Amino acid sequence: QVRCDAAKISYADYVHYLGPRKPDSHKGDHGRIAVIGGNHGMPGAVRLASEAALRSGAGLVSIISRYENLPLIQAGRPELMLWGSDIADMEVYQRVSWGQVVLCGPGLGSGDWAYHMWRVALNSERPLVMDADALNLLAKNPQKRDNWVLTPHPGEAARLLGVETVEVQRDRFKAVRELQDRYGGVVLLKGAGTLIYDGDSMLVAPVGNPGLATGGSGDVLSGIIASLLAQGLPLLDAAACGVCLHGEAADMAAEGGQRGMLASDLMPYVRQLVN
Ligand code: APR
Ligand code: MG
Repeated sequence: QVRCDAAKISYADYVHYLGPRKPDSHKGDHGRIAVIGGNHGMPGAVRLASEAALRSGAGLVSIISRYENLPLIQAGRPELMLWGSDIADMEVYQRVSWGQVVLCGPGLGSGDWAYHMWRVALNSERPLVMDADALNLLAKNPQKRDNWVLTPHPGEAARLLGVETVEVQRDRFKAVRELQDRYGGVVLLKGAGTLIYDGDSMLVAPVGNPGLATGGSGDVLSGIIASLLAQGLPLLDAAACGVCLHGEAADMAAEGGQRGMLASDLMPYVRQLVN
């Protein structure tokens, strides 16, 4: 339910950010994103997030992933740039800093590699989008930062708060406030009626549908938010616009049926909506 202190938002509130491109614009005008993730056996999540970033208008997207995942990702989406690394060295750091925005987490997994890649993301001063396994690492290594967007689902939010998921869901407003207070930046709490909070404005996005309850739809969302940040939207607006765009695309995709809908079914609608 919507409380009186939360403002209901829709994609129409943000569409003014995405006017026509300048006739003489080039790829460098539309943002560079570094995406970190894709541990053993998990090339799909980074691929989905990165493709969503391109489909929502980012100029250049580069993935930093395990070597073994590169051929698969490249074959499926040749527009993506790739950097393989099994260790977090200076070159990885440079590769990450090439991004004007860094997205960390899709398919990141756990273990030493994941932890070191996560540290590289944190060491960059770029605005960060932290999703999925990057949030699980944050729960274990708590810290506060202003220039990041955290995108937990209720289970990840529970880990970040050290409580049970039911407790998060019992009072989602309280949970998102506590998350922002503890971790800073912009926090969105996903699920039906996603909440977005930056310590000041509380926004609720009554968009999307249960067709999104399928593996990979969260990866599409984090890619969209990183893309909007790289295209110059302020942190709160990028998060809020991203949630609305994702939900609106999901509502369009659901015309073909909610059951059986795939995360990648959102892509053509994302593209349509940003034009
Ligand atoms: N109504 C509206 N929106 C919904 C609904 C619903 N009923 N169900 C899901 N969504 C939206 C959420 O708001 C969110 O934007 O779909 C997205 C789901 O995101 P995630 O829960 O992160 O799902 P997923 O993409 O599968 O995550 C991939 O990362 O977070 C980890 O543990 C997760 O391993 C999994 C991986
Ligand atoms: Mg997820």
